[in-house]
Amino acid sequence: MVRPILQVGDPQLHRPAEPVTDFEDAALQALIEDLIETCLAANGVGLAAPQVGVSRQILILASRPSLRYPSAPLMPPTAVLNPRILAQSADLVWDWEGCLSVPNQRGLVPRRRWVTVSYWDQIGRPQVSHWQDFLARVFQHEYDHLLGQVFLARHPERLLDEASYQREVLGQPLSPTAVPTGNGTPAIPD
Ligand code: NI
Repeated sequence: MVRPILQVGDPQLHRPAEPVTDFEDAALQALIEDLIETCLAANGVGLAAPQVGVSRQILILASRPSLRYPSAPLMPPTAVLNPRILAQSADLVWDWEGCLSVPNQRGLVPRRRWVTVSYWDQIGRPQVSHWQDFLARVFQHEYDHLLGQVFLARHPERLLDEASYQREVLGQPLSPTAVPTGNGTPAIPD
């Protein structure tokens, strides 16, 4: 089931999420499926539970190539529960981000180049993953949602509206084929 995505300013987006404690809960599995479905329906590459109004430490990574990120890695949608950053690069990289909860805005945001993360997977198995570059950025963006933050809190070096981003950064006018159905403008990472 596709769920509505909350927009910036909604208090549920701006409070830290609670850990998942009951991995057997049928409602948890339904929520994860809904998050994946909602993320894909909105042409996102990631989504976090607080964005649908659920205060749980659950994020979805669902990178795949798109018009905006032709080189984005293709991966099966992956649920990441109760993530903890074990290690991260000292260096930062800047790239453009958008957010399904921040309509019509793109920001040039600094992120760690790589992260190593422990978490629980969809069926409650402990995992450790190392993500770098684009996936590390998507993870850090979604992880911020679990902390109650959107990318605007990361002090973007520049902010552009969607049309300016298309024109100035991508060097092309907004193409109808680039606009997903859903609740507004396309958004990367989520
Ligand atoms: Ni977001």
